[in-house]
Amino acid sequence: MTVVEIENLTKDFAVGFWKKRPVRALDNLSLQINQGEIFGFLGPNGAGKSTTIKLLMNLLYPTSGSARILGEPVASTEMRKNIGYLPENPYFYDYLTPAELLTYVGRLFGLGGEELKKRTRALIEDVGLGHAENRQLRQFKKGRVQRLGIAQALINDPEIVFFDEPMSGLDPLGRMDVRRIILSLKARGVTVFFSSHILPDVEAICDRVSILNRGKLQEVGALADILKVGVKSHEIIVSGGAPDIKEAIGGLCEEIHVMGDRFQLRVRDGKAVEDALRFVFDRKLELISVNPVRPSLEEHFRSAIYSSE
Ligand SMILES: Nc1ncnc2c1ncn2[C@@H]1O[C@H](COP(=O)(O)OP(=O)(O)OP(=O)(O)O)[C@@H](O)[C@H]1O
Ligand SMILES: [Mg+2]
Repeated sequence: MTVVEIENLTKDFAVGFWKKRPVRALDNLSLQINQGEIFGFLGPNGAGKSTTIKLLMNLLYPTSGSARILGEPVASTEMRKNIGYLPENPYFYDYLTPAELLTYVGRLFGLGGEELKKRTRALIEDVGLGHAENRQLRQFKKGRVQRLGIAQALINDPEIVFFDEPMSGLDPLGRMDVRRIILSLKARGVTVFFSSHILPDVEAICDRVSILNRGKLQEVGALADILKVGVKSHEIIVSGGAPDIKEAIGGLCEEIHVMGDRFQLRVRDGKAVEDALRFVFDRKLELISVNPVRPSLEEHFRSAIYSSE
């Protein structure tokens, strides 16, 4: 089921002294997000990620195109009760404590009483701020503010969350916590749409990703499919080769590494893989593994952005 439907969304900003020169921040974006998935919204600086999220949050008005969330237009206040939003670089009033902020946001959603108290406490624990529950936010470093930002986005128990750079400003442990939170949201059936620059985190948890560049969608798909596009070679590991195997198989491989009694062969795709495997079987070597060598998302991202320049 599609829970976010973006259709030909375009946003121009008027810039310059006379506000006459339009800058196209988002160019005809169409995208669907499915219920229950973790969707990674990627792109370099200035790609239009935050602009897209702000359009979805109805904080900006599109130049053209439209979007629907849970079947409702983005302006629907009823629908808004079922979504959560973490803005990029969130800022909260300095003299509040985490508990006070969450209580405040919860009341905006019409929550109160014991229910709100319980939820506030549980969320503060979940995001790892239990020890700082009653400290004022002015004493908080960026990482804690970010955690609190995630907690406030979850106070209404949303069906879909939109996180704009949830890992930014966090150390590796903090990033692991955010990954854990996102995965636990998915386990509860929550749809997570998040933008990020931190590709290993995206790679670790996303079902699908898209790559946006200069306002245009470059690519969208399951991570496995996107990275498969770049598979150019296979790695074959065998053991039990006679000492001359290196010479005998040499012509079939791009690279050979010897690791104790094992050989690691790097073979180009297609027929070369078949030839190498036939050699392995003919020689009665023991086949340990055959794996496609995938570029990391990081490598893929770089080449996707580069090839569009
Ligand atoms: N309010 C605005 N007025 C004018 N231009 C804007 C405005 N907001 C964004 N832009 C421009 O629109 C483009 C897209 O910006 P956006 O903030 O959406 O990118 P982003 O992908 O979120 O980048 P980052 O990774 O740096 O957060 C940029 O060129 C930016 O300068
Ligand atoms: Mg941004």
